[in-house]
Amino acid sequence: MKGLILSGGKGTRLYPLTYTLAKQLIPVANKPVLVRVIESIRDAGVHDIGVVIAPTTGQDIKTALGDGSRWGVNLTYIMQPSPDGLAHAVKISRDFLGDDRFVMFLGDNVIQGGINRLISDFAGSGWNSQIVLKEVENPRQYGVAKLRADGTIECLIEKPADPPSNLALVGIYMFDATIWEAVNTIQPSRRGELEITDAIQWLIDAGRTVYPHVHQGWWIDTGKPMDMLEANGLVLEELTPTIAADAVIENSQVDRRVTVEKGARIINSTVRGPAIIGENTVIENSYVGPFTSIYHHVTIQNCEIERSIVLEHSAVRDLDVRLQDSLIGRYATVCRNDERPKAMKMNLGDHSTLWTV
Ligand code: TTP
Repeated sequence: MKGLILSGGKGTRLYPLTYTLAKQLIPVANKPVLVRVIESIRDAGVHDIGVVIAPTTGQDIKTALGDGSRWGVNLTYIMQPSPDGLAHAVKISRDFLGDDRFVMFLGDNVIQGGINRLISDFAGSGWNSQIVLKEVENPRQYGVAKLRADGTIECLIEKPADPPSNLALVGIYMFDATIWEAVNTIQPSRRGELEITDAIQWLIDAGRTVYPHVHQGWWIDTGKPMDMLEANGLVLEELTPTIAADAVIENSQVDRRVTVEKGARIINSTVRGPAIIGENTVIENSYVGPFTSIYHHVTIQNCEIERSIVLEHSAVRDLDVRLQDSLIGRYATVCRNDERPKAMKMNLGDHSTLWTV
């Protein structure tokens, strides 16, 4: 069995962060989503993994992951010249995958409980494919499956206006070599992409066995900023908290459910969990509330922050309102302006959003 992680795409819904950063490298509870995906595949016993990358962000992903040996896996990079769809990403990975059975995992998805059971069920079955479904409240935004009374799949519909069920397709799929005829036969959809739903529908119509597994835990597709914050909160809740031996905690209240990483310093502050404070980060005269991840080399001074993600080398200082539900990029500064004239000053990237009080 092999693994295939899809880490190309454009990430337009996460602009401006993803102008300069691959969305799969954005950390959730201080670990990039892509690393969480690699660990899930590895923990299920699959070590030979292809990573589909885009020309724009591919080099950053290669630099971050290397050959994969840090995680005990062997990574092969596959360049997708343009984001022509999930089935296109499969199609161009033929040389790497050969005729092996494989698991394909979208590099921006986070799932509770790992995929060990899914992989062992598929490996021990005669199914041609296994897909994962999850009940959602807003099926119009997803690929949706309609099941027959006996539990088999009748059809799959991409972003239906009138959803036949609330079962969305999760970004984890398993295939055998019958997928090659499917991806080589289907045509681009109206949005110009080779759709994985069309390839799976082709398998169903050709009488192949596609087993639908309905996932019971949580699953987040981190496509938009609010999804990132939600995934961050859910992963933080499951983290086993640790305090690094060299972390400094002075005159502060730090909850049980807080992880403090190497070299971090918390001074005259309150940190309520679940939360994580990254390596060499300084929290001073501040309040860090639940569901917050502060990455490495960040300064938080004289302010309050809650349910937010702050990326590396940024600073948040001297605010008199609480920062909440925020996603702050790398090397960013958020601070109060005491100079006259008293006015808001900003230097925002394209597609940024700023809410003032
Ligand atoms: P999407 O979230 O569907 O697409 P995107 O990353 O381009 O984002 P947006 O819609 O905000 O512009 O992609 C799901 C995952 O699959 C993500 O990790 C990127 C990857 N992907 C590819 O590798 N190749 C592709 O052709 C596409 C469409 C996505």
